[in-house]
Amino acid sequence: MTSAPTHAKGLEGVIAGETEICNVEQTSLIYRGYEIADLAANATFEEVAYLLLVGSKPNADELAKFKADLVAERSLPAPVVEFLKTSGDLVNNQSAVPMDILRTAVSIQAHVDPDCQDNAPEANLRKAKRLLAKIPTIIGHMQNSIEGKDFVAPRDDLSHSANLLYMMTGSEPTPEAEKVMDVSLVLYAEHDYNASTFTSRVITGTLADMHGGVTGAIAALKGKLHGGANEAAMDMLSDIRNDIGPENDTAKITEWMHKAFAEKRKLMGFGHRVYKNGDHRAPILHALGRKAAEARGEEFVKLFDLGETVQKIMEDEKTIYPNVDFPCGMTYFTMGIPVPQYTPIFVASRITGWAAHIMEQHANNRLIRPRVAYTGPALRNWND
Ligand SMILES: CC(C)(COP(=O)(O)OP(=O)(O)OC[C@H]1O[C@@H](n2cnc3c(N)ncnc32)[C@H](O)[C@@H]1OP(=O)(O)O)[C@@H](O)C(=O)NCCC(=O)NCCS
Repeated sequence: MTSAPTHAKGLEGVIAGETEICNVEQTSLIYRGYEIADLAANATFEEVAYLLLVGSKPNADELAKFKADLVAERSLPAPVVEFLKTSGDLVNNQSAVPMDILRTAVSIQAHVDPDCQDNAPEANLRKAKRLLAKIPTIIGHMQNSIEGKDFVAPRDDLSHSANLLYMMTGSEPTPEAEKVMDVSLVLYAEHDYNASTFTSRVITGTLADMHGGVTGAIAALKGKLHGGANEAAMDMLSDIRNDIGPENDTAKITEWMHKAFAEKRKLMGFGHRVYKNGDHRAPILHALGRKAAEARGEEFVKLFDLGETVQKIMEDEKTIYPNVDFPCGMTYFTMGIPVPQYTPIFVASRITGWAAHIMEQHANNRLIRPRVAYTGPALRNWND
């Protein structure tokens, strides 16, 4: 009797390709040679987007041209606008969530993109810039539709981050809010062969187009074990708050956690397939979010205090550390962003990493087609 060949469940530890875009190590996260803490402290999101898409740090002229190209592409074509007018009803009737709306809007955008069927490097870069520019407008219009408000047109004079917040809320963010959003987008931009990026490479490795790869990637990012964790982490903290009441009673928080451990529940925003000693992005965002909470007032400081107690119990009792989605949930809540938009905002950043990987795949393509160990019934006859 032959046994099935061994395999790594969930492809853990499998090297499934090569990339020049990003290096994820236990002790560092590097985008094209630059460490994430360096980028978070010193680069804007637009600079990081250029770095990922083009491959090098932009000089002043290159950056100005890149930003102008993005600004020129912010508005949406009519079919996407028409669809977004219906999005509020779809979400408010609870038949769709914002990630579903965003996925469909990107798919409709494919129908009207003049380069859709062209996988050449120049066409791919044009498509990447269009998607990068338009996704915040999709999110903004969708949020306006959900709230029954008129769409807020994009502003040419605002950064990617400020414009995103402006279109969602109708008011220009403070420089502090813009900075927090910008850093969160820098942290979210790229992460090698995570599930959504791998999905996009599998799709485009068939020589399918970028919009198809991005649509699939959005579908993959939605799940709670991946990008959906930033919403799920905030929902979990809200559940804890509902259960323990308004005060941060450590005994009650510990009791809540022990019950979750006993029920073998996964705590959202904790753990990582690669980082076993902590995610370097998490403390960067936590510090910024906590500062924003201190500026906003007691309710928000109490949320961070609660999160820190949960984190301490996880670390002390399970040696499991928060990933970037844990502080992201608390930070976006502090900024007043509706929870169901947290993962779409992740997309407004990760589109850069996906597009860079899709371009890398198309530039040096081989179909991605692994084998699987068969564990089904032995051979049998239909007429037996
Ligand atoms: C990210 C994640 C999917 C990685 O999964 P993975 O590499 O397959 O790791 P496993 O699920 O095999 O976890 C290994 C062990 O740690 C435990 N563990 C991992 N993450 C945990 C979490 N968030 N809460 C509780 N226990 C967790 C598992 O129960 C398992 O314990 P066991 O060996 O006693 O069964 C997982 O940590 C998780 O589900 N986290 C919550 C969702 C999340 O935050 N996702 C965003 C990731 S950036």
